[in-house]
Amino acid sequence: MTEAEARLAPDEQMYFYQDDRDAKCPFAPPPGLRALNDEAPVSRARIWDGSTPWLVTGHAAQRAILSDPRVSSDDKQPGFPYPNKTMAETAHEHPLTIFNADGADHSRIRRMMTRPFTRPRMEALRPEIQRFTDELIDKMLAGPKPADLVSSLALPLPSLMICALLGVPYEDHDFFQEHASLATRSDKTTEQQQAANQALGGYLAGLLQKKMQEPAEDVLSDFAGRVKEGDLTLPEATLLSMILLIAGHETSANMITLGTALLLENPDQLAKLREIDDTKNAANAVEEILRYLTVPQLGQRRIAREDFEFEGVQIKAGDGIVVPLPAGNWDPEAFPEPEKLDLTRKASHHVAFGWGIHQCLGQQLARIELQVVYGTLYRRVPTLRLAVDRDELSFRPTDALAFGIGELPVTW
Ligand code: HEM
Repeated sequence: MTEAEARLAPDEQMYFYQDDRDAKCPFAPPPGLRALNDEAPVSRARIWDGSTPWLVTGHAAQRAILSDPRVSSDDKQPGFPYPNKTMAETAHEHPLTIFNADGADHSRIRRMMTRPFTRPRMEALRPEIQRFTDELIDKMLAGPKPADLVSSLALPLPSLMICALLGVPYEDHDFFQEHASLATRSDKTTEQQQAANQALGGYLAGLLQKKMQEPAEDVLSDFAGRVKEGDLTLPEATLLSMILLIAGHETSANMITLGTALLLENPDQLAKLREIDDTKNAANAVEEILRYLTVPQLGQRRIAREDFEFEGVQIKAGDGIVVPLPAGNWDPEAFPEPEKLDLTRKASHHVAFGWGIHQCLGQQLARIELQVVYGTLYRRVPTLRLAVDRDELSFRPTDALAFGIGELPVTW
């Protein structure tokens, strides 16, 4: 009996979300989740607190539910399917943010954050991303072997970029990376998370106050200007800054690390990637790797506002809804032979950045970072390889916010 089968409720044989990945295929979504989707695109599942929200696993069904206005992200509603105990315990004090706001509130908050993230602005950053990538690779090559790809490249690159964009001094990265990690890790206590949030908030509020006196060309100065004009309060501007600082590096970093481990295991695809010398095909390859790995693995959480029929099931007002994006991106109806990594596949309809009104705000930045890193690292270091066996890599468990690897020892 597998561990997942052992966790099934004996009375109902209901799927327990989320079971583990198969150690032999660590890049694939958990097998139980894939098997569930083979049966139906929407089903009931049991989660950590014993409740049984709807699990939407089909690709088309995921896009439909994530853009359905009858569904809410309001995490204060009774019945909301929290991903863990800490989230459940602290939900009553969560402020209104871009993540848990609906409708007009969400549009208002999102509008304040969109301007710096438009496609042309992100494209203009490409040369800087290339420069940072080259410098980090130079430094790694000049250092000892083996090197840890996470600390040499995967984490510093997105961190440098988000710092440059926000106007946060990169020299402080040890401080904010540590606190961002403490604030979001499910194995930390509520008190530890709150303390980390407070420390990070104090730091950002201080920076915003400085930018009110001496504005520069960056996002924090933009928020500081809005505080001065009375469009935002200082705590609101602090929260927006904190969200961008936290959201801006961990997911992209995990894509760089996991993508490298995946490509090293698929040398034919890695060879194809090295041959690509145009932006369009490089962009296409990145979409396939985003689909394949789908790092936001925890499942997007929603709650029904009203009764409605959906994909043949009757959803009731107050029912919890969980949308595990890896399952949609491995739905064979949308992506035939999903287990095959095929960098020529047309995969841009994937849901790795979510769908609907909450679709990722930083997706253009993440895409360009990945296009530059994947397009540079394996060409500049053609003999790059793992310095340990694949079995020794510490993959993050399925209840971690993002799928990733703690350390990736590489040599060349
Ligand atoms: C490969 C990297 C990334 C992935 C896979 C990713 C994934 C996602 C996903 C799945 C959502 C949807 C959440 C939901 O539906 O509830 C989301 C939202 C968001 N992401 Fe990303 N993200 C990435 C990088 C970034 C970056 C670099 C930034 C900022 C600089 C960012 C900022 C945000 C924000 C602010 C939201 C909230 C949008 C909203 O609720 O309207 N993300 N992201």
